[in-house]
Amino acid sequence: MTDFSKIAVDDLDSDQAEKELARLAAEIAHHDQLYHDKDNPEISDSEYDQLRIRNESIEKKFPQLVRPDSPSKSIGALPTSGFKKVKHKKSMLSLDNAFNSDDVYEFVGRVKRFLNLPVDEKIEFLAEPKIDGLSASLRYEDGVFVQGLTRGDGTTGEDISENLKTINQIPNILSGEGWPNTLEVRGEVYMAKEDFQTLNENQVAMGKQPFANPRNAAAGSLRQLDASITKTRALRFFAYGWGEHSGVLGSTQSSVIDKFRDWGFTTSDLIFVSSDVDAVIKHYDLISEKRSQLSYDIDGVVYKVNRLDYQDRLGMVARAPRWAIAHKFPAEKAQTRLNAVDFQVGRTGAITPVARLEPITVGGVVVSNATLHNADEIERLGIRIGDDVIIQRAGDVIPQVVKVAKTNENNPPVIFPDRCPSCDSHLVREDDDVVWRCPGGLICPAQRVERLRHFVSRNAFDIDGLGSKQVEFFFNEGMVNSPADIFRLEENDDAEPLTSLKNREGWGELSVRNLWAAINARRRISMDRFLFSLGIRHLGQQNARLMCLNYLTIENFIQNMIDAQDKESEAYASLLSIDGIGEKVADAISGFFAEPQNMAVVSDLLEQVDVDDFVPPETANSNIAGKIVVFTGKLEKLSRQEAKASAESLGAKVSSSVSSKTDILVAGPGAGSKLKKAKELGIATLSEQEWLDLL
Ligand code: IVH
Repeated sequence: MTDFSKIAVDDLDSDQAEKELARLAAEIAHHDQLYHDKDNPEISDSEYDQLRIRNESIEKKFPQLVRPDSPSKSIGALPTSGFKKVKHKKSMLSLDNAFNSDDVYEFVGRVKRFLNLPVDEKIEFLAEPKIDGLSASLRYEDGVFVQGLTRGDGTTGEDISENLKTINQIPNILSGEGWPNTLEVRGEVYMAKEDFQTLNENQVAMGKQPFANPRNAAAGSLRQLDASITKTRALRFFAYGWGEHSGVLGSTQSSVIDKFRDWGFTTSDLIFVSSDVDAVIKHYDLISEKRSQLSYDIDGVVYKVNRLDYQDRLGMVARAPRWAIAHKFPAEKAQTRLNAVDFQVGRTGAITPVARLEPITVGGVVVSNATLHNADEIERLGIRIGDDVIIQRAGDVIPQVVKVAKTNENNPPVIFPDRCPSCDSHLVREDDDVVWRCPGGLICPAQRVERLRHFVSRNAFDIDGLGSKQVEFFFNEGMVNSPADIFRLEENDDAEPLTSLKNREGWGELSVRNLWAAINARRRISMDRFLFSLGIRHLGQQNARLMCLNYLTIENFIQNMIDAQDKESEAYASLLSIDGIGEKVADAISGFFAEPQNMAVVSDLLEQVDVDDFVPPETANSNIAGKIVVFTGKLEKLSRQEAKASAESLGAKVSSSVSSKTDILVAGPGAGSKLKKAKELGIATLSEQEWLDLL
């Protein structure tokens, strides 16, 4: 049969299109089967998506040719996984980004401010390449490799020990001496450019799809359920950090990395340590110049505070350490045509214009959508449908349109709607906001489905096999309208055996059974995930944690939010007094619970799931857990930020104002009204030194 797979959709005639649709239906069905029944995909997720995208665009052009068994009528393979989930002993963090040297200077400034060091104080940084692969955590007990995990969501990873054991650069037994009894070495699994070429040549020779880039090839190779396949793939590992360990590893990042080398690991040969920030940035320039000659793909340079006592004090914020940053290479750009602009409704009603582009490869990834941000941005760009545009893509950031390269005044302008494309509500815009929003809330189908998507996302309920595609399918089928419905799917499905899910196109007995198990596994959930999953505006992961710390149980939290609707109430005052919660956030959170519809959704959900009470960290040996602390005046040893972070990490609640509930006031020189009020109320007052002694 002639191969039409390389012909662009626009160039296909009707005959060719028909044959191509038949081929795609068969190929997608084949990959679906490998995915759900055998759990052994031979292509990456993005390659799979490309097949579906091609199928859909041909169908769009030739609607009369849509097949009865078209893949567009099924929802596709469930991302089930056969690997055991394991909780990380220490969470695996990601990195904040710097995009230029100003961002780097700012990072250095932030570090010094947090540590309360003078601006001109020199501190050492280690710089090394950021390899584009997948992170893994390798656990050694008494020098023997016992378990290897993927990063997963940072809290829980998957056990891929057998696959990792096949990698030559991962020692099974540590060499040298002096390693601690327990040691988790962390680093990046990647595929060298040359090995990627060879693999792809083999793939093509065997009639298989080539991988889009070395990172996808590494991911596809590492996630094989059959480790003997992984063994045939040339994967490598470079060690850059660590997780749990016994004893002391060293006093600097660089000294520990040196030890890793002695113990048998490969570390970067482009490490540079200096306390001169300009020299560190020069190293970045040097690596940029060498980039194309390196044997592996990198997407930036990572800077880390070298002293480990500083790293400890700096700790982390949200999911990234305060002591490290990734200095990214400039975004890759490309030119393509703007075919259309769609307006998407987010879960909080924000309307985002999305550019639909003629697909183009940017940095090894096919891009067919890019964000246009908001109405102001459309105006600034002066963009018209049919224009040639420059787009850019930087690492994991959503591709964006940077400018118009070629326009034609006959091209139709982009018109921002004044009504919600989903529920037709009139869009509104707050005074200081650039974003237009649909005020439809739960009556707006688009917001409902986005809330559901958010509900099942990685940092929320994270239900295996229930991604955004599946939840949208259940929503469209009328099977899931609100989060609680997810937990009723199984019983409702059993009630209707004839139309039950396992008989539907795209689902099989096994995938349905796995799905029910995964859903049931989530009937118990931590309080911070639960709060985050509700998708309340301004209640992101960080604020969700703050709420946990301050309210401890879900019942207590909800009661307080209900009470806080009265702005004269004590509940509102204490919500506002939480350090880090301002009026806007307080109003958004309490306002959510003022809506009877929202309350109904939450109560319904609480019938289905149990929310664990929050256990503040390290409370066992903390003498300030649960205490309400206020800082005032000038602190001399600690920065305000470090004082607050250390108190919170020991389970204390930091408040911005003194009240009868305050337990401790830490007052530095220059303290005024807060100190006076604390004295009147008879509240314990400590100096900074006394506070440090207490810790
Ligand atoms: S340090 C706590 N160093 O980049 C610090 N990460 O965007 C965590 N990565 O998840 C990471 N090269 O997979 C670090 N030299 C390097 C790295 C590196 C690649 C990856 C790593 C991490 C991701 C964050």
